[in-house]
Amino acid sequence: MAGRSLENLQQRYSHSAPDKKRGGMGFGPRRGPGGRGDGAKPKDAKNTIGRLLKYIGGYHLHLILVLLCMACSTVTSLVGAYMLRPVINTAADASIPAAERIANLGGIVLTMAGLYALGILSHYMQAKLMMIVSQNSIEKLRNDLFDKMQGLPVRFFDSRSTGEVMSRYTNDVDNIQMMLNSTMTSLISGVCTIIGTLFFMFFTNVWLSLLVIVFVPLFLKLGTSISKRSRKYYTAQQAALGAVNGYIEESITGQKIVKVFNHEEVCVDEFKTLNGDMRSKQLKAQFFGGIMGPIVGNTSQISYAFTAGIGGLLCIHAGFDAGGLGIFVNYARQFARPINNLTMEASTVFSALAGAERVFAVMDHPAELQLAGEDAADQTPETIKGHVILDDVTFGYVPDKTVLHNISLYAKPGQKIAFVGSTGAGKTTITNLLNRFYEIESGTITVDGIDIRNIRKDVLRQNVTMVLQDTHLFTGTVRENIRYGRLDATDEEVVQAAKTASAHSFIMRLENGYDTILQGDGANLSQGQRQLLNIARAALSKAPILVLDEATSSVDTRTERHIEKGMDRLMADRTTFIIAHRLSTVRNCNAIMVLEQGRIVERGDHDQLLAMKGRYYELYTGVKELD
Ligand SMILES: Nc1ncnc2c1ncn2[C@@H]1O[C@H](COP(=O)(O)OP(=O)(O)OP(=O)(O)O)[C@@H](O)[C@H]1O
Ligand SMILES: [Mg+2]
Repeated sequence: MAGRSLENLQQRYSHSAPDKKRGGMGFGPRRGPGGRGDGAKPKDAKNTIGRLLKYIGGYHLHLILVLLCMACSTVTSLVGAYMLRPVINTAADASIPAAERIANLGGIVLTMAGLYALGILSHYMQAKLMMIVSQNSIEKLRNDLFDKMQGLPVRFFDSRSTGEVMSRYTNDVDNIQMMLNSTMTSLISGVCTIIGTLFFMFFTNVWLSLLVIVFVPLFLKLGTSISKRSRKYYTAQQAALGAVNGYIEESITGQKIVKVFNHEEVCVDEFKTLNGDMRSKQLKAQFFGGIMGPIVGNTSQISYAFTAGIGGLLCIHAGFDAGGLGIFVNYARQFARPINNLTMEASTVFSALAGAERVFAVMDHPAELQLAGEDAADQTPETIKGHVILDDVTFGYVPDKTVLHNISLYAKPGQKIAFVGSTGAGKTTITNLLNRFYEIESGTITVDGIDIRNIRKDVLRQNVTMVLQDTHLFTGTVRENIRYGRLDATDEEVVQAAKTASAHSFIMRLENGYDTILQGDGANLSQGQRQLLNIARAALSKAPILVLDEATSSVDTRTERHIEKGMDRLMADRTTFIIAHRLSTVRNCNAIMVLEQGRIVERGDHDQLLAMKGRYYELYTGVKELD
């Protein structure tokens, strides 16, 4: 069996998140020497910087202290270096008696040590303060992002993979954090060092300083070209890393399917292809970032040699002091380092800003509205009885692709309405509209005579409880999961709801009963048991409108009958919409809607529909197979 080609694999995996439910895992993003190369350049850097500043702006006292500490550590290091001049000159000055020279030296060295100690202290303070600022700002940013995400419409998540949304929290926030943590301070201190060093260099010797400056454009050119290349290879490395991570993730979550179809060997082959590709890209990225960068950085040593040579000549012919030469060559070396770093750090800043832009784009995405539509007026009622009317509703998830055509139906309070029909007919879609997961384009849906667009979303959802087709259980105890249906429910009510849903007996058989911890979407339960917990959750809610979407599709018929009995009492005073493939479940409903390709093709109660000998009759009696 042959695996897919590298190109095919890369295309599929480098941006994908194979598992809709789980976020990214694997090796995680790494920092490259040229910065995180995954981001394109920011589009509106000014605006993004402005918004980021708002996050750190609250810490202006901290920031002022950071700047002061930074200035202090730069100045102490520059002045400390300058002290070498009197050290050399004093030591070399034969005209002064040795004892006096030693005494002088002692004084100078002590001052030097004091200066450096002060420098270390301010560096420590600066790093610590900046850490506080950046961690607090990032905490706020993450909170804001999560907060906004909770308000986003279902449509937002439909069109994005989990991995894509996850990477806002991982890659992008990480990039911003790195910029705030270290890049920003090293940029500022780099600039301070360059300016300070220049000052001391000119102060020491103007001609030598001019000579050093002549070399600057050369370093800059070399630095930027290396950083450009390393960024290019780093981007490729990140894409390869993404592909490898995506592949591993899918192999883990799809492990059973891999085994069912004996795909282990193909998987290994495909993984080897991706892994080999990652190795070759990492080699290049590391070569340029990790080896070439520092080597090119060392070309500044050439200017160092030049300066030393010419400085020596100045000592011999122009009376330049030996101490002056000593410190000058030091400064010259110190001067080149931040220039190289700046070009490298600049790309980290670009990546961080691009990441911030993506984070802010999620935050700026329009949130779900409490009331929908421009002319919406709040008509939220005190209580809802559950009289639901759909009038000529037409809807599509994407433009130009209508999924529901002219749906009209009503349900009086306490009535049971069923939707049946083949897979993909639009049953789930109708229920998705009832609680405004999606807004309709034409037609109206009213509850108790009020257009649902004029009912506050939270109130509407409080009154429409759903057992969704794809169940979800959260990490937590069984009790907590059931209580999700109504947070103020007592323990007795939780048990009662579980009994209604026929879940009580299996829960009692679990190791810790209601306190058993469920993990990974209830991985330690059977599919049917998960459904029972979801029904229990809905049973706990007091909502007058209930939607059961294939709620009992995975439980055996005997349990289903049990649930039906329990639910009968529950459904007695609720408007219930039931979707079921098993038609025995819907026999007792007040009305059954038969849907085909987004249209209601038949309606009536069980007996009427059977008498019609149409589509329902076919489905029920199995005269004709489903298509
Ligand atoms: N989020 C979505 N985005 C785009 N199209 C969708 C989305 N969900 C469903 N559809 C499309 O809408 C149509 C109706 O889907 P729906 O889920 O309502 O079917 P269903 O009747 O519930 O089927 P089943 O019995 O399999 O649950 C399908 O053709 C499907 O492809
Ligand atoms: Mg469905």
